[in-house]
Amino acid sequence: MGKPSVLSGIQPTADSFHIGNYFGALRQWVQMQDTHDCFYTVVDLHAITSEFDPKILKKRTLTSFAQLLAVGIDSLKSTLFVQSQVPQHAQLAWVLSCFTGFGEAGRMTQFKDKTQKGGQERSSVGLFTYPILQAADILLYQAQSVPVGEDQRQHLELTRDLAIRFNNQFGKTFVVPEAFIVKESAKILDLQDPTAKMSKSSPQGCVFILDEPDVVMKKFKTALTDSGKEIKYDPTNKPGISNLLSIIKAVTNEDMTTIESQFVNKGYGDLKIYTGELVVEKIIKPFREKTMTLLADENQLNSLMNDGAQKAEKVAAATLKSVYEKVGF
Ligand code: TYM
Repeated sequence: MGKPSVLSGIQPTADSFHIGNYFGALRQWVQMQDTHDCFYTVVDLHAITSEFDPKILKKRTLTSFAQLLAVGIDSLKSTLFVQSQVPQHAQLAWVLSCFTGFGEAGRMTQFKDKTQKGGQERSSVGLFTYPILQAADILLYQAQSVPVGEDQRQHLELTRDLAIRFNNQFGKTFVVPEAFIVKESAKILDLQDPTAKMSKSSPQGCVFILDEPDVVMKKFKTALTDSGKEIKYDPTNKPGISNLLSIIKAVTNEDMTTIESQFVNKGYGDLKIYTGELVVEKIIKPFREKTMTLLADENQLNSLMNDGAQKAEKVAAATLKSVYEKVGF
């Protein structure tokens, strides 16, 4: 028996990943490489569902690929590839879209949130069917486990429903995958608004992996904290402080009581500086430097992309072939 399979993806929709992506997903991607057969993809097909610029998209895809290598994805252990270079993703997405109810797709909360912000007239059909493409990404590789942050849970439920539906109608075709969500770091919050998840759409509250260290320190120093003085993990009453404590825990892996005990008789300012310095030393500096080095050799990155796409396509083609046969193509 081979190792169980994993697939996960990340969008190249910003100039840099942020620490929410890292703690919520990428760190688990790295860890799973030793125990699983891993497929990791930069999902550029997903990135054109909202407004985009082709030149910027291309650059971001390359930078995203480099960042995945920099955080520890090993192209010898894992299959690392760019989604648009493996045509089976779009092909399977079409078939699956014919098995998805219109109302079912309409219940996806991420679509509802995004259309509420941009207005339904300005939203593309691609944005609406995006979770079906995500299901195709996962099902093509027969992934058992999908390491993601909390915001992807509903998309994983849809993926499971589609796999089960297809299997029931045509016989076992897909592995039914499970979301792998690490509770403590499943939702890193915005430093300026600790009621919202950290996201590139709020750059002041978002710590990007490729930010300059002094920019990172400034973001931590100006983080919104709560009333009172005590440094205690209490997400309901102290969301800002608790978010900083969760970030420390995500980096050091200490238990929360040990972390809290280091801040007895200290102030919020001390906590902010401590967290900022920790993130700069352990995350920003090493990953930033490694990414820059990798980006200096574009030919090598392109060659790794080609290799990854070829490896991925072999697996994806086998799944698509069985799907095509089953539906009568
Ligand atoms: P994306 O590109 O928005 O985010 C990539 C990963 O980062 C996680 N994440 C967070 N985790 C904790 N705290 C946060 N503040 C935070 N922000 C983002 C996300 O949960 C995700 O795991 N639809 C997906 C991309 C995708 C995909 C896939 C994922 C496409 N196909 C197949 C898994 C499997 C997305 O937009 O992630």
